Amino acid sequence: MSSDKPKPTTTDAGIPVASDEYSLTVGADGPILLQDHYLIEQMANFNRERIAERQPHAKGAGAFGHFEVTHDVSAYTKAALFQPGVKTDTLIRFSTVAGEQGSPDTWRDPRGFALKFYTTEGNYDMVGNNTPVFFIRDPMKFQHFIRSQKRRADSGLRDHDMQWDFWTLSPESAHQVAWLMGDRGIPKTWRHMNGYSSHTYMWVNAAGERFWVKYHFKTDQGVECLTQDEAVRIAGEDADYHRRDLFQSIAAGDYPSWTLQMQIMPFAEAATYRFNPFDLTKVWPHADYPLQEVGKLTLNRNPTDFHTEIEQAAFEPNNLVPGIGPSPDKMLLGRLFAYADAHRARMGVNYKQIPVNRPQCPVHSYSKDGAMRVDNVADPVYAPNSKGGPQADPAQYPAVDVWNASGEFMRAAYTLHKDDDDWGQAGTLVREVLDDAARDRLVSNVVGHLKEGVQEPVLSRAVQYWRNIDKAIGDRIAAGVGVK
Ligand code: NDP
Ligand code: HEM
Repeated sequence: MSSDKPKPTTTDAGIPVASDEYSLTVGADGPILLQDHYLIEQMANFNRERIAERQPHAKGAGAFGHFEVTHDVSAYTKAALFQPGVKTDTLIRFSTVAGEQGSPDTWRDPRGFALKFYTTEGNYDMVGNNTPVFFIRDPMKFQHFIRSQKRRADSGLRDHDMQWDFWTLSPESAHQVAWLMGDRGIPKTWRHMNGYSSHTYMWVNAAGERFWVKYHFKTDQGVECLTQDEAVRIAGEDADYHRRDLFQSIAAGDYPSWTLQMQIMPFAEAATYRFNPFDLTKVWPHADYPLQEVGKLTLNRNPTDFHTEIEQAAFEPNNLVPGIGPSPDKMLLGRLFAYADAHRARMGVNYKQIPVNRPQCPVHSYSKDGAMRVDNVADPVYAPNSKGGPQADPAQYPAVDVWNASGEFMRAAYTLHKDDDDWGQAGTLVREVLDDAARDRLVSNVVGHLKEGVQEPVLSRAVQYWRNIDKAIGDRIAAGVGVK
């Protein structure tokens, strides 16, 4: 049938081409002619196919789905996407942190859990990880931290000595490192891990009341992990193991889902809570702030073009919609700048016009021009104006996600609350959450990691670091690596 005939190849300008096989030459053996603009277009486009990979979180994949509210939390937030019964289109991208494009999915590392909700009041991005805490608590250390996890200057190799050097000189990393070296440091698949905001955010209800909140996306597939040996084997057999699992599950109609539960703290309690509630290296124990159910995230659609829909997806923690605001968490405040800047550097100033990043609601901004702009700009191009241009509406959208701050300018650590220290919550995890078998695997994972290239004086510092977390675990690690 004629409809089965393939479509004719064209150039990018839509001009039919004469051959997919032969360049234009002078005679069969002759030189190639510069007027073969189709050949030149092929070579030139190919040379520009790659865009820079993300600096951290380069290796990943994603999918589309929706978030549906199942429980009424309108007493805590007026955000449109969290109102009863609302269903919002959603994009997720999972990733490892330190590995480059092509690196194995099963290396021990935190996993990214980045969400974009296409809400009726603009895009809301919740750019979290599969861990409830992080290695550091001040954005000044982030770039140094990431460099210590990536590659050395001289050999271009990753280096455990460099990792432990940074960690042991940054004791606030203990909680996250204890978490990372345990079972959850290598999820079985992305479907079998939780996602956390890690940060504290603010929710604001319709009456203007404020709350501090943490997001917990609990996997409905159950948490499952890989052992170190399984992960090493799979890394050799299939570097794209997690990417493949997600794509194949969704293609087979086996749609993964997560239940969103929140911890909600009344605004005034932050000042007197036993932990500084904005310190990203701490959790709020469940007993203090129990989880409250909100809704369900379901993934049911694979990308059709990995590059345009996943590689060019731009998540930015500064995308906060009315009813959701930031908190005094210094890491979060740093991130409010970092991501949009990364996107401008990687994809150009008009990256929000790439279809995957476009809001599903009307945009009335004053941004104008720039490389790769495709949306037409209309006059007036300035505000204030008397020409009918968009006007902010403070009556409908007042600035309510705010808090009081005062003091001298300074460079300082957070004010300590009653139970704040660097080791306590890591110790609780190791002693009270892990069982004997999980503790054995933890010790084995740490000893194995330290034995791969960690030198003195870092090695002894690492042993002391673990003794600070838990004396018994530290002693076992000391024996394992042959340090007193
Ligand atoms: P709970 O006993 O109420 O909670 C312990 C939580 O630990 C579980 O709910 C589970 O989180 C998580 N968990 C279970 N196994 C592991 C593991 N192998 N590695 C890492 N986490 C695991 O105690 P608290 O709330 O008082 O917290 C105690 C410790 O638990 C904390 O210091 C922290 O290290 C860890 N934790 C606490 C979380 C929190 O938000 N309170 C969240 C995650 C860990 P989940 O239900 O999210 O799967
Ligand atoms: C990616 C910066 C902390 C989660 C990135 C990127 C940058 C960055 C520049 C690459 C963005 C891109 O090119 O698309 C920072 C800075 C931090 C910080 C400066 C601290 C000051 C965190 C924390 C979390 C996190 C605490 C989790 C709670 C992620 C995720 C991605 C990412 C999930 C990948 C997003 C995607 O899938 O595209 N980060 N980050 N980051 N970061 Fe952070």
